Amino acid sequence: MKTKSGFSRRALIAIGGAAMLVGPALAQAQTVKVGLILPMTGPFASTGRQIEAAAKLYIAQNGATVAGKTIELVIKDDTGTPDVTRRIAQELLVNDKVSFLAGFGLTPLAFAAAPLATQSKTPLIVMAAATSSITEQSPFVVRSSFTLPQITIGIADWASKNGIKKAMTLVSDYGPGIDAEKAFKERLTAAGGEVVGDVRVPLRNPDFSPFLQRVSDAKPDALFVFVPSGAGSQFMKQFVERGLDKSGIKLIATGDVTDDDIVDSMGDVALGTITTHHYSAAHPSPENKAFVEAFRKAANTRPNFMAVGGWDGMHLIYEALKKTNGATDGTALVEAMKGMSWVSPRGPVSIDPKTRDIVQNVYVRKVEKVNGELYNVEFSTFEAVPDPVKAAK
Ligand code: DHB
Repeated sequence: MKTKSGFSRRALIAIGGAAMLVGPALAQAQTVKVGLILPMTGPFASTGRQIEAAAKLYIAQNGATVAGKTIELVIKDDTGTPDVTRRIAQELLVNDKVSFLAGFGLTPLAFAAAPLATQSKTPLIVMAAATSSITEQSPFVVRSSFTLPQITIGIADWASKNGIKKAMTLVSDYGPGIDAEKAFKERLTAAGGEVVGDVRVPLRNPDFSPFLQRVSDAKPDALFVFVPSGAGSQFMKQFVERGLDKSGIKLIATGDVTDDDIVDSMGDVALGTITTHHYSAAHPSPENKAFVEAFRKAANTRPNFMAVGGWDGMHLIYEALKKTNGATDGTALVEAMKGMSWVSPRGPVSIDPKTRDIVQNVYVRKVEKVNGELYNVEFSTFEAVPDPVKAAK
């Protein structure tokens, strides 16, 4: 007996049975999972929110299919705690069988997961964390964010060219802060300047007041600051409370401090702050205008440098899969990423084939009011800057 489709019932049952057998296996082979581990709660949740929104936007704009594979994000909250990052990474590898680990909102979180990337030969895309040595923790680490030395030498150069002879540094007391302190000191000193005091503040629940009192007493020409994304608001509040905005001590910083996420809410005290960084929401390029507009529509907020790290990390994953024709061998994927270059919303970028760090422009910026909102307005550029620590090795 024939059914409406023209196949006999027995033939249909046979086809159905075969589909049941190959169906799940086929679906699994055609799906490439990206394990995105981010701090979605706790003090660094803004980093997680920005990267999540950017990764989802990238997929929405570029389609969920690449090289015949369907990309599936598996998003997990590590709360910013290294032990949790390691456990989640293990689960994603063993249970979810992810082909990529990505995210990593803070340096200790990237350090916690890197050995698992090596053991499992899985590409680990660092979208946020920025201590220079992270890429040395595993040959499977590729970075789409930045390094602190890479973006700090520019502000030291700006300082020495703009009459700053004696500076103090204030940094968060962990990997990226120590990198920033060292890079700033070396570069300013080489240009004939002097760092007359260095203070390190705790990463968690920082109270800047006692440290700022020391700065106020020492009266340097400038104070150079690094704190991670999100912590700049508290710093700026206490900078003003201590009266340092009226002390004649020039505030200079990495762009992490005047993060696009929070700079507008800092108010006019932030006006005139000079920073160096690799991304500003005000970057005047067609690629960035389109990115900022789409991000605003999707996430109802301004993208910051974390968002652009997430966006470019997804780009790396997509382009690597295109190069391997959808094959998910980890070694082949990392090889495909080495030397890759593209135009990001931040400007032209490439992956250094030796270090797997991102080579990018670093911009000198000033906080200014644009259409009633505070932005980091770029006014000069250091082009194609590598991580200087590894370039010197
Ligand atoms: C790191 C975290 C940040 O939020 C940031 O702005 C820079 C560096 C880090 O932990 O590596």
